[in-house]
Amino acid sequence: MSSLTTPTHITNMKIVNTISEMQKLSDELRKTKRIGFVPTMGYLHEGHMSLIRKAKELGDITVASIFVNPIQFGPQEDLAKYPRDFKRDAALLKKEKTDIIFHPFTEDMYSHDFSTYVEVERLEDFLCGKTRAGHFVGVATVVTKLFNIVKPHFAVFGQKDFQQLVIIEKMVRDLNMDIEIIGHPTVREHDGLAMSSRNTYLSKSERDKALLINRSLKKAERLFLEGERRTATLKKEVEGVLRQKEGINIEYIEICDSHTFEDLDTIKNRAVLAIACRIGKTRLIDNTILTEA
Ligand code: PAJ
Repeated sequence: MSSLTTPTHITNMKIVNTISEMQKLSDELRKTKRIGFVPTMGYLHEGHMSLIRKAKELGDITVASIFVNPIQFGPQEDLAKYPRDFKRDAALLKKEKTDIIFHPFTEDMYSHDFSTYVEVERLEDFLCGKTRAGHFVGVATVVTKLFNIVKPHFAVFGQKDFQQLVIIEKMVRDLNMDIEIIGHPTVREHDGLAMSSRNTYLSKSERDKALLINRSLKKAERLFLEGERRTATLKKEVEGVLRQKEGINIEYIEICDSHTFEDLDTIKNRAVLAIACRIGKTRLIDNTILTEA
């Protein structure tokens, strides 16, 4: 009997490398099971694992993908040196009882004549989209492909990459994809630094500087709670914290509408405060939602 027909017997994690095998497996599983999906680029940390746990809680079968997607990296970005360790990732996923890892080959995902892209207009023009031209087209395209391959009922994305989450939600709505998108809160180190695969690039002193990012968000949250609603004032306070140490290169500090990313002068009910900066060669992002609720 083919293993494809025994979904309940997946006690051991399965590693799937080919697109056709993944599609067949998902077709079979979908007959009786609710499939939850966590797309990743690997080099997993506790942030990724919390998404896996969420998917396991909500579904019957959990699929994680590990694929460093070349088309979401700009020519000057860190594609070649992006950290990779499949063995370690697989061990971590197994420990969480992940059912399936989808780990495709780049040549299979992007054939030599690949020419179809998904663009979520407008939302890509703000925040990280301003300096990372084409990044979100790369993300939306690969996530669409992964959705078509894994065929999940729902997918879990981290709020750490807030703009990515909002763009994927919009794409799913606009294109009527029958997939529920679940946002999951940012997981932080004990000292507040948002977990990221790129944190491994940081030296000890750079990591100390990086702590100011979360500290600046906390300060804005406190001022907001105390009643400050003027975004210029809040941004200035955030900048003040980030300037406490030399060597934080601020790319942006934005306070904007959490659905459209349009700039706000004052916060009515809800806004996102998002930061991107460079410390040494490492680009870090973080955000918080400022809301009265
Ligand atoms: P990657 O950076 O590996 O992140 C995979 C998922 O983990 C994303 O949904 C991201 O938001 C989430 N994540 C990362 N750090 C987190 C943290 N500290 N807390 C909570 N969630 C966190 O994002 C990507 O990969 C890619 O762009 C991808 C969607 C896989 C498309 O290639």
